[in-house]
Amino acid sequence: MSRFWSQVVHGLTPYVPGEQPKLGNLVKLNTNENPYGPGLRVLEALRAEAADSLRLYPDPNSERLRQAIAEYHDIELANIFVGNGSDEILAHAFHALLKHDLPILFPDITYSFYPVYCGLYGIEYIEVPLTDNFEICVDDYLRPNGGIVFPNPNAPTGRALALSEIERLLRANPDSVVVVDEAYVDFGAESSVSLVKRFPQLLVTHTLSKSRSLAGLRVGYAVGNAELIEALDRVKDSFNSYPLGRPAQAGATAAMQDRAYFESTCRKVIGTREKLVASLQSLGFEVLPSAANFVLTRHPQYDGKELTAKLRERSIIVRHFSKPERIAPFMRITIGTDVQCAALVDALADILRKPV
Ligand SMILES: Cc1ncc(COP(=O)(O)O)c(C=O)c1O
Repeated sequence: MSRFWSQVVHGLTPYVPGEQPKLGNLVKLNTNENPYGPGLRVLEALRAEAADSLRLYPDPNSERLRQAIAEYHDIELANIFVGNGSDEILAHAFHALLKHDLPILFPDITYSFYPVYCGLYGIEYIEVPLTDNFEICVDDYLRPNGGIVFPNPNAPTGRALALSEIERLLRANPDSVVVVDEAYVDFGAESSVSLVKRFPQLLVTHTLSKSRSLAGLRVGYAVGNAELIEALDRVKDSFNSYPLGRPAQAGATAAMQDRAYFESTCRKVIGTREKLVASLQSLGFEVLPSAANFVLTRHPQYDGKELTAKLRERSIIVRHFSKPERIAPFMRITIGTDVQCAALVDALADILRKPV
């Protein structure tokens, strides 16, 4: 609290990011990073940017990167917006496209940044409960609204919504912007980018932090109708014209072009996820079906918070959410390497062997 703060700052409830521990030697399975580093082509592109040219501002429109993204998705340059992580793009989307008279809709269990953006920009919202199986039910979104936003797959549940259901949602909401946050889509869900040409109200956001192993570079992008992209550009150029530095643009361009490396790491993460799910189930855990690089899981006899603390004593960190209450019994575990996940399973087996 300070008398120097604006009214807006007094009213903020900021997002709390997952822990980034200073200690080494931890099995870090708490913030959905990729366990495999960026590919060699990305590292070479980054090294090439460590040069005299850093004294010059970067391209404010990140055209080369946007071109690489457009080619990847087989869409026009005018349909692509890039930003400093998809968090920044989501913030611009809330500001530029989701602030209208009616409240916006998003799931009650979802990415906890959404209500924070609403607080920052003064946007009313309604949290729509997930079903008892933690699924998004499209019928619940067929009502007047100022916009809709949800991740697909959802976070932190990992559950995916079928493309046909997203299409049904779009057909029923022709006059509201629908933002599909596809931060985790490459790990097994169907992308709605294919619907962008048919639905002018659809904005799809992606990140290079997860499936492209670049959380440390901070790059995300959005795909949508040119009018939606123009709205984002207007906000960006009223805020920070250079959200991506030269290294970020070069590294991200190489990451978008290196499909083989991207596909091989995604395959490995998905393979490890399937093995981890089977191991957790054999220890008596319930695991929600996941199309992401994490799983949400609970054990009938143990509290999620307690298990998270016991894992930490064994230098393994996973994420526990005490709110919303419905997910308090769970832990969210990021998919690491096979070796990391085997260490996690051994630690859990050891914890479960000890009396409660
Ligand atoms: C659902 C969801 N959307 C967006 C993001 C933001 O990703 P970034 O800002 O790293 O692109 C995250 C990060 O954890 C996320 O879980």
